[in-house]
Amino acid sequence: MEGLSRINAALSTTTIWYMHAGQRLATLASHFKTARKLNQQGIHLMATEGAVPRWQRVIDEALQGDQNANVYQYATLESNSVLGGTSPRVRTVVHRAFLTPRSPAHPILLTTTDVRTSKATQLAENTHVELAWLLPKAQAQIRILGNAYIHPSPDFLLNGADSISGEEKRTIENAVAKLQSAFPAKELGGEGFDWEKERIERFDAAGGHMRASWARPVPGSRLIDPGDAKESPETLPKSDETGDKKELVATALKNFALVIIDPLEVDYVEVGVMPNRRTRFFRESAGEGGWKEEALVP
Ligand SMILES: Cc1cc2nc3c(=O)[nH]c(=O)nc-3n(C[C@H](O)[C@H](O)[C@H](O)COP(=O)(O)O)c2cc1C
Repeated sequence: MEGLSRINAALSTTTIWYMHAGQRLATLASHFKTARKLNQQGIHLMATEGAVPRWQRVIDEALQGDQNANVYQYATLESNSVLGGTSPRVRTVVHRAFLTPRSPAHPILLTTTDVRTSKATQLAENTHVELAWLLPKAQAQIRILGNAYIHPSPDFLLNGADSISGEEKRTIENAVAKLQSAFPAKELGGEGFDWEKERIERFDAAGGHMRASWARPVPGSRLIDPGDAKESPETLPKSDETGDKKELVATALKNFALVIIDPLEVDYVEVGVMPNRRTRFFRESAGEGGWKEEALVP
């Protein structure tokens, strides 16, 4: 309580009451250190139980103001990396949507991929991920730590990984088998959510060029003759194709997968305000339950 009285005392001095509201917030921010101590002493943290978490609202607002802000980078862990042992691997992806099949308080992030990519093999081994999302107009960074799960085609193993053989094929097929059996459908979506329907709808909602990319040879495999790239289709129709592209569409749909990121901790840094602000949002467990937040020293 002593720390709280110190903050109140500081805020009620004449100089501070003459300040612009934003500056007063900034002054409060400068007391983060004290506020953090207060938290540790048991003073309650802000809770956002039952509601859309504030960090998601920050992202939604940024996306409304800037369509180009819909990409982030996420890192997975690769065992047996060329560095020896386990190493982080990172890549840029497009944010497709927040899904809230269970509750608005429990948003999960949806992105998509080709299940033959390295990230899928890495996620089959280890679900831990962290993503970094730059929101340029807001001059903010959001980092999300959590688990990522891949929902591949249920048919993948029936048709196998095309255009490769031997060790590479076995690696992909083993990874997909693991991803298929480990996908926590109920935990992420509750009882009624139809993940396969979601996958097909996302496939159909993608552009024709994107669909064509999932019918190409395995991403990251050696391109022996650059001319071969021209052989691949440039665009493909939706999943209900019955014409001459039917087989290629079936191949693309087989390789297309949902990636679901289930956040556990969010680190929000704002450098567009002075002094800068940093907020940690967290859930106490991976299951249900609201988000809490605390101010951190930036
Ligand atoms: C702007 C941009 C957006 C991208 N979006 C995606 C995406 O949504 N999903 C995806 O799997 N790869 C996407 N990629 C490609 C990845 O960055 C990466 O090269 C590819 O997925 C292979 O990564 P991996 O070998 O780590 O699995 C995107 C690349 C760029 C430059």
